[in-house]
Amino acid sequence: MNHIQHVVVPGTFDPVTLGHADVISRARHLFTRVTVAVAESRTKLGVGTAFTLDERVEMLREALDEQGVSQLGGVQVLPFTGLLVDFCREQGAGGVVKGLRAMTDFEYELQQADLNAHLAPDIESVFVMSNPGYGYVSSSIVRELASLGSDVVNTLVPACVASRLKERFAEA
Ligand code: PNS
Repeated sequence: MNHIQHVVVPGTFDPVTLGHADVISRARHLFTRVTVAVAESRTKLGVGTAFTLDERVEMLREALDEQGVSQLGGVQVLPFTGLLVDFCREQGAGGVVKGLRAMTDFEYELQQADLNAHLAPDIESVFVMSNPGYGYVSSSIVRELASLGSDVVNTLVPACVASRLKERFAEA
């Protein structure tokens, strides 16, 4: 039996937070290769994103450099459209890693994992518990704080993302 070497960490990353960077880093400590998959749109809510797909990919690459995750090696960031399980197969990844914060994440994540298991029983879903220090951090909270002009965002996202948020919400 082959062990899983390569996993995908998917998300909308609108924008990437320190919580995401922590999950990606931990996925890389568990597996040899990690592909961070940036979804085109936020299908979950059916609404647009604050940052374009290209911007979200670029911010992730910069954030992973800044947080020292890129230097672990074996980490790449790619955009994706369509089904996550198809993307995993194209990339030759055997699993999906996601972070879990509170119970409220669990139901949503379980539903997605069950659906993915139905679509592709060969792709494993793996969950890591969020670092408790980032339990309350989410992209939507970050966007809300940024839109209100709060400097607290600087403690929730990498510095390169904080400056992009400042620019984006100053424009709005
Ligand atoms: O940042 P999020 O909202 O947790 O990311 C959700 C994402 C992008 C992982 C999920 O919506 C997804 O996998 N979308 C791709 C379409 C798909 O495969 N849907 C079926 C599984 S839910």
